[in-house]
Amino acid sequence: MKILVLGAAAGGGYPQWNCSCPNCRRAWNGDPLATPLTQSSIAISADGVRWALLNASPDLRQQIAGLPPLQPQATEGRNSPISTVILTNGDVDHITGLLSMREMQAFTIHCSDRVKLALDKNAVFNVLNPDLVKRRALPLDRTVDVLDADDVSMGFTVTSFVVPGKIALWLEDLTKADFGSVEGDTVGLKITDKSNGRSFFYIPGCAALPADVAARLENADLLFFDGTTWTDDEMITTGVGTKSASRMGHMWMSGPDGSMAAMMPLRIKRKIFIHINNTNPVLIANSTERKDAQAKGWEISYDGMEVVL
Ligand code: MLT
Ligand code: MN
Ligand code: ZN
Repeated sequence: MKILVLGAAAGGGYPQWNCSCPNCRRAWNGDPLATPLTQSSIAISADGVRWALLNASPDLRQQIAGLPPLQPQATEGRNSPISTVILTNGDVDHITGLLSMREMQAFTIHCSDRVKLALDKNAVFNVLNPDLVKRRALPLDRTVDVLDADDVSMGFTVTSFVVPGKIALWLEDLTKADFGSVEGDTVGLKITDKSNGRSFFYIPGCAALPADVAARLENADLLFFDGTTWTDDEMITTGVGTKSASRMGHMWMSGPDGSMAAMMPLRIKRKIFIHINNTNPVLIANSTERKDAQAKGWEISYDGMEVVL
């Protein structure tokens, strides 16, 4: 299976349009140690022809422009190798790329019942003609074949499972505990190549690592994991926000309560951070934080990164 990182940044991208935090300032200034990143999404293909997006970022058009395998391959007419989109939640940075996939192209969407409800209730997604774009609900904890618009297997299966998190920011109900979050609002994905049985995990949003999620990840070949922030209070200390990482539904990387410490005992063969917020010091190529993460066995993803599983 081929995996392409379309975008490695969290919501807002890097640099973010309205941000002059220390990291964004360096990227705006063209610092070669501060490479810009688009918003998080990966593309995967088992047959090298048809591709699945795991989340569809608002930067999708730019991402396609930079990656020839995702561009139309036929010599005439309307066509796309992007055959399906699998969603991990309903966040703006994960679903709004769907709006760039209008123009009468057939593909499928796979998502939890909760995310499907959010799409179904929001009329703007009617720009995707329902005769051409089938929305398939992904049942939790069941392994299902991923199908293209012709109901042909993409060559891999997906198992979605609950991870700690919350409802999308734009759907939060501030009068309710947990902002009205319900099981299935945020999921992790296990993708398995049917031809060789190899699998990997895609978890770009995760607020904690409970024992059941840790058990799934034990001995995994490959994990892409939530790399939003380095510390819980990073948005506050960089002066750009008031929310902690945990309030936003994300683990932070560093320290005894961070994701790197939590994952340390799990013997995961390859660990890659994705969905990295523009405030995160690991974005700076020679930072002590990046060196610390690498010393702990983590890679920092970047736009255009390729992995073969
Ligand atoms: C998040 O990851 O917390 C969300 O993308 C926030 C947002 O919707 O901006
Ligand atoms: Mn996000
Ligand atoms: Zn910034």
